[in-house]
Amino acid sequence: MSLVPISELLNKAEQGCYAVGAFNCNNMEIVQAIIAAAEAENSPVIMQASQGAIKYAGIDYITAMARIAAENASVPVALHLDHGTSFEQVMLCIRKGFSSVMIDGSKYAFEDNIALTNRVLAVARAVGVSVEAELGKIGGTEDDIHVDERDALFTKPEEAKEFVERTGVDALAVAIGTAHGQYKGIPELDFSRLEKIRSLVNIPIVLHGSSGVADEDIAKAIKLGVRKVNIDTNIREAFVQACRDVLNRDAGEIDPRKVLGPAREAATKLIREKIRLFGSSGKA
Ligand code: G3H
Ligand code: 13P
Ligand code: ZN
Repeated sequence: MSLVPISELLNKAEQGCYAVGAFNCNNMEIVQAIIAAAEAENSPVIMQASQGAIKYAGIDYITAMARIAAENASVPVALHLDHGTSFEQVMLCIRKGFSSVMIDGSKYAFEDNIALTNRVLAVARAVGVSVEAELGKIGGTEDDIHVDERDALFTKPEEAKEFVERTGVDALAVAIGTAHGQYKGIPELDFSRLEKIRSLVNIPIVLHGSSGVADEDIAKAIKLGVRKVNIDTNIREAFVQACRDVLNRDAGEIDPRKVLGPAREAATKLIREKIRLFGSSGKA
């Protein structure tokens, strides 16, 4: 199968009330882990690459690995740009074969975010590529947001409605209390805000910063309309811990395959657990 746009996967998820996992990849072993997990669960899957991942692996390696993965996979696979921040970056990804892109204009003023998103949409629509946008500021766990600052950064339901009406974007990432990276405490999600957003916005909602969020909170968010769940940090943790374990057992190990093989297996196991939690097992 060739790479599919995320809208194809998310619209089915909408009908079936489940979410599709969007897993970040940086190297071949993680690409293989994502596909192995999706196949073992007979689940659709989104592989995503951040600008950092593209810088690390090279855009041609990322797209070639994803293309081979999708061609050989028994399940539908999307290749999505995660947090694209410029029009030029997004265009390059589309030209290189990404089936889906995120244009993250969340750092800009509302009107500028709409204008940038629409500029991307005009091109993406013409070539059948899906577009995810972001409204509200998700940020990182290192930002250490104080409780009284949270509200100002969170997605405003009325703005989400207007944003979706004026763009027609395929999926919307919202800020409701999650953050990227390892949480210091327990993340507190604003479920009533999510419910309000979903009542005004009739498109799939995306949850970023989902590593470290309690399973029951993820399940609740999916019940309330989240259809794409982004996971990066948990994969990094599982992958690197497995490398550490091998080297702790045998500090003299010099064969990369003996270090990275178990890391790939650990990532596969973690991704399978997430897929089951998101409810997309058996939905390929
Ligand atoms: O959204 C952030 C993702 O976890 C990607 O992180 O920019 O370090 O690749 P990165
Ligand atoms: P985590 O690293 O917190 O899982 O977030 C991933 C993400 O949102 C990628 O866009
Ligand atoms: Zn993110």
